[in-house]
Amino acid sequence: MKKAPPATLVIFGATGDLTRRLLVPAVTNLCTDGLLGKDFTILGIGRSDGDDEMLRASLDKFATEGDCWRDLRKRIAYLQGDFTADRVFDDVAKALGDRSAVFYLATPAQFFGAIVEKLAAKGLMAEAGSRFRRVAIEKPFGHDLASAKALDARILALLPESQIYRLDHFLGKETVQNILVARFANQWFEAVWNNRYIDHVQITAAETVEVGSRGSFYDATGALRDMVPNHLFQLLAMIAMEPPNSFDADAIRDEKAKVLRAIRKPTAVCAVRGQYGKGRVGSRNVPAYRKVPDVATDSRTETYVALKLEVDTWRWAGVPFYLRTGKALAARDTEIVVTFKAVPYALFRDCPIDRLPANRLIFQLQPDESIVLDMLVKKPGPVIKTAGTTLDFTYADHFKLSGRTGYETLLYDMMTGDQTLFQRAEQIEAGWAAVQPILDDWVKDKGRLESYAPGSAGPAGADALLERDGRFWHRIGQ
Ligand code: BG6
Repeated sequence: MKKAPPATLVIFGATGDLTRRLLVPAVTNLCTDGLLGKDFTILGIGRSDGDDEMLRASLDKFATEGDCWRDLRKRIAYLQGDFTADRVFDDVAKALGDRSAVFYLATPAQFFGAIVEKLAAKGLMAEAGSRFRRVAIEKPFGHDLASAKALDARILALLPESQIYRLDHFLGKETVQNILVARFANQWFEAVWNNRYIDHVQITAAETVEVGSRGSFYDATGALRDMVPNHLFQLLAMIAMEPPNSFDADAIRDEKAKVLRAIRKPTAVCAVRGQYGKGRVGSRNVPAYRKVPDVATDSRTETYVALKLEVDTWRWAGVPFYLRTGKALAARDTEIVVTFKAVPYALFRDCPIDRLPANRLIFQLQPDESIVLDMLVKKPGPVIKTAGTTLDFTYADHFKLSGRTGYETLLYDMMTGDQTLFQRAEQIEAGWAAVQPILDDWVKDKGRLESYAPGSAGPAGADALLERDGRFWHRIGQ
């Protein structure tokens, strides 16, 4: 791999958690991997008072210690100011001069449009020769379909897609990228990857953490907006997309957009929403969601959502995709479970085997990254009896993964200009369009809001959603 070209990473929101916990450690890891040149610099912008040393010191305990960090910290500068004040942009222009830059918007979403407008108005997005200027936008990209379209229109009026990097940090996870390699670099996958062999797909992002200090953001957002049209749909798209013609960014993004557009509009009966009450997760006491600071005491915001979706394509017709995500659940568990159909003929019916369980392929993203395939084998002995076993691949057993934040690839790609892992406007809008009917139904208050106990697997309605199709969720944490 070649070093990223010389550039400045300009971070709006440099004193925030994202910068400290994820961006700066990722930059240090890239440096350790030899992928950053000596001429890479960081310019952090924040609203708090402070100077270069303040920012550097605030990052010290999060960065990976070593020569790289010692050297890199000298190349970090701080600029105090309001995210939309003219003075800040004039100072950024002065600091950058003719250098290439990635402007990273790690700010609350209400600033995205205004910052891009200021960058464009001050000529900061102008590219010339090999000098690039790119803007990286964190989620949430919009609050619903209309606001996402409005934000896209605002930004695309000023910049071409090639300068816009809409982030979804799930795409930085190794296992997520590995879905593409697993599917398209192995012959046997594609042969069974369709509705003839696959019964259904489950996508789960279960978290043990509660809403905690994020009450004001979360109460206006909820689990559906926070996780589904972005993170869970990225996983769905990786599983369900058609093979692209090449590994080119646009070829891949075209196929992902097509799948997202093919999601059939769901109705309230295909959605379950839950909110956690008071209880315990492991040994931790968890106050009820409605007692979280900055959450309305009569809040109807969901902290859990489960959906049944259909993808209207030749390949997936009749294969339900069940999605679920929630806070304060029994275990941290992000996984995709692909359940295959039963074998077509019960060859072993005269043997002491009453039922052959379906094969499953599990892509585990968290807490550990692995791929597991269930299979049946014969138990030793004179009588034909089967035993369930697994073929498993765990990333950590084969590769060194220590200390990765998941942002390394994303940052490197922004600097080298590879947009494969970033979303184009139509992908974002297709994601919102697919969940908009449910958001609308919930405004009309269709569909119960169920309570669930912290430390459980979620509300009873989520189990019923599958049971009525004769199916069951894969146990959280298993
Ligand atoms: C964020 C959500 O985008 O993703 C959070 O806003 C959620 O609510 C987080 O906790 C989950 O990401 P990860 O990588 O920790 O699974």
